[in-house]
Amino acid sequence: MRQAGRYLPEYRKTREEAGSFLDLCYNPALSAEVTFQPLRRFDLDAAILFADILLAPQALGAKLSFSAGEGPVLEPVRSMEDVKGLKLEGAADKLSPIYETVSRIIEGLPAHVALIGFCGAPWTVATYMVEGGGSPERLRTRIAAARGEAWFDALMDMIIEVSCEYLARQVKAGAECVQIFDTWAGDLGDGLREKYVIEPVRRIIAGLRARGADVPVIGFARGLGAAQEEFIRETGVAAAGCEWPLPVAEMARLTEFAAVQGNLDPAAVMAGGSFLRDGVKRLVEALPREKHIFNLGHGFKPETPIENVEEMVACLREFDGAD
Ligand code: CP3
Repeated sequence: MRQAGRYLPEYRKTREEAGSFLDLCYNPALSAEVTFQPLRRFDLDAAILFADILLAPQALGAKLSFSAGEGPVLEPVRSMEDVKGLKLEGAADKLSPIYETVSRIIEGLPAHVALIGFCGAPWTVATYMVEGGGSPERLRTRIAAARGEAWFDALMDMIIEVSCEYLARQVKAGAECVQIFDTWAGDLGDGLREKYVIEPVRRIIAGLRARGADVPVIGFARGLGAAQEEFIRETGVAAAGCEWPLPVAEMARLTEFAAVQGNLDPAAVMAGGSFLRDGVKRLVEALPREKHIFNLGHGFKPETPIENVEEMVACLREFDGAD
């Protein structure tokens, strides 16, 4: 999950050493270091590559910066002329420092820890590109989608293409699983969800298979609610990431179709105490262990106390009990 490192002082120190967040992302030695940091503190089964979903649009030619306190800022794409200013050719090559990071991680990773690579889902990446950064309602993008604007569809196609190649190269470098983050999947209702959430993820999985990348794919399509089953069935994801408001009974039902990942409330980890313990227990008891990847329902908040993360992992090992 995003910001996995921000609650760790050693992450903040390495980021400072790198100069900026983006300098850190493009520095394979330091990105590998940041990927390892949580593993040195906690008994985890997997590591997530340190990078960002917005590196792919940057590789397409959209100017990107991260300003302190404001989050990402991107040069907006809002017309066919803007789309024509982007360049698919060679875009995946510009991301080669990330493949180098993957190789370095694999070299230093204990054998029992899996490495998860990732990219942003086309819909979510497109919202950042069209809005020019984060936006509370993403209305400009939702209207472009509802109108089926030709420039918007062309933009989505470009993102799909670069994502297939980007993920396939992460896998080639050693990623053992990949996750597609569709943070804003819940923006789209009937009539648009199929075209802009389900179909792009399905195409990325097909593109990976066509390139010989045969790893499991986790789809984190946040906010789908009752449409999760359709998403799983039609995309063919091996696991569905679930946000915390999704009832655990619904996660249990979904295990008929795929594995599920999640979905502890990040606020429960901040709160600690019995609410945290009960939350971990509820998930372990309700979900079959061979079909469940324990995780939060969204990213860690930077203010999360480290000792609560330790407590969470200890509870999980205690309740799980199988190893
Ligand atoms: O958690 C990790 O360290 C793993 C690597 C990772 C990052 N971003 C690093 C990061 C992953 C998997 C992501 C995914 C990501 N990035 C998503 C999808 C998942 C989600 O959280 O919904 C999205 C939407 C982004 C885009 C993004 N990156 C935003 C909106 C921001 C700014 C957030 C803020 O509040 O400042 C980022 C920055 C970012 N990406 C940070 C990290 C560790 C924080 C940067 C810092 O301050 O050091």
